[in-house]
Amino acid sequence: MHKAIVVFEVEGGSDKQFNGHRKDTMPIVESLQEAGWHSEVVYFRPEWSEDLFDYVSNNFDAYISRVNPGNIPGGEKGYFDLLTKLSEAGLVGMSTPEEMMAYGAKDALVKLNQTDLVPEDTQAYYDVESFHETFPQTLSYGERVLKQNRGSTGSGIWRVQLKDKELAASVEPGTTLPLDTELKCTEAVDNHTEERQLGEYMDFCDQYIEGDNGMLVDMRFMPRIVEGEIRILLVGAEPVFVVHKKPAEGGENFSATLFSGAKYTYDSPESWQDLVDMFAEIRPVIAEKLGGDNIPLIWTADFMLADGENGEDTYVLGEINCSCVGFTSELDMGIQQRVAAEAISRVEAKHGAA
Ligand SMILES: Nc1ncnc2c1ncn2[C@@H]1O[C@H](COP(=O)(O)OP(=O)(O)O)[C@@H](O)[C@H]1O
Ligand SMILES: [Mg+2]
Repeated sequence: MHKAIVVFEVEGGSDKQFNGHRKDTMPIVESLQEAGWHSEVVYFRPEWSEDLFDYVSNNFDAYISRVNPGNIPGGEKGYFDLLTKLSEAGLVGMSTPEEMMAYGAKDALVKLNQTDLVPEDTQAYYDVESFHETFPQTLSYGERVLKQNRGSTGSGIWRVQLKDKELAASVEPGTTLPLDTELKCTEAVDNHTEERQLGEYMDFCDQYIEGDNGMLVDMRFMPRIVEGEIRILLVGAEPVFVVHKKPAEGGENFSATLFSGAKYTYDSPESWQDLVDMFAEIRPVIAEKLGGDNIPLIWTADFMLADGENGEDTYVLGEINCSCVGFTSELDMGIQQRVAAEAISRVEAKHGAA
């Protein structure tokens, strides 16, 4: 064992500050060093892949990836191939490409739709034919949210409702709505609303299904989103804090993204104890359903409130993020030390403590 962990970044991108790093990168590196380990940052470029493999595999026990998948020079394949080779060479991957894909893709929701976390009628379209065939029916059951897989800023996340309230109240569930049905479509990126016709709107949405990793998740609209989205941030298995993200009030607003005007409050996990307990209990089920035998190093799970059978609050999962979760505004909470401790414990679990 080298007692050394490398941190991967890519050059440039809006997540960087003046020293060229993500704001939370150097705090992680320094926390590893304070714990007596060697740590440094390397940058991925496709043309450096072989040199990076040689250098990292010869000098480090593990890698931590701090890379936004949308931001990788040459696309994500070259980077993921390098990470996979490093795992095969015996390094501990935090996280591996498989974990990032399994947890981070929007269709994780579909894989969890047989659990209490996600409504059963959540589905995904991987080809435009099945989308055009099925969506005019699912819309008859009530308001829906369509989610594209790429991006993470609410872009291509649409709340879709029937414009005619009377029709919405009277339509027989399971009916196939005609293509000229008038819709109100609100996009989470900025809560703007457009009036569209069903057929034309579906044609527009085909872009989200086409191309690499394209898909569209079709999920029931959760009306209590107006009370806020509740994000748990975890380091490994441990919840470290909760962010309560309340959408801007008014209109059709439903977005919990900062850009759309949502207000964020930071809470301790204890102030959401029932949610945290529920999540701890179901976490192994999530791991099993998503097919990862590992859990991400730094990740988030976002929830919306719903009503249980006896009027109690329940929680519906909206998405999991794990590729490049930042915690820049929470550095003073000591999260970087927890990240370092968790990373070290994973290497020691593999090699035995030094
Ligand atoms: N099923 C839903 N019901 C109500 N609001 C939702 C639902 N799914 C997502 N939202 C809202 O849309 C926002 C963006 O959706 P999300 O799945 O988090 O995508 P992104 O990856 O762009 O953050 C959420 O923060 C939440 O406010
Ligand atoms: Mg989100």
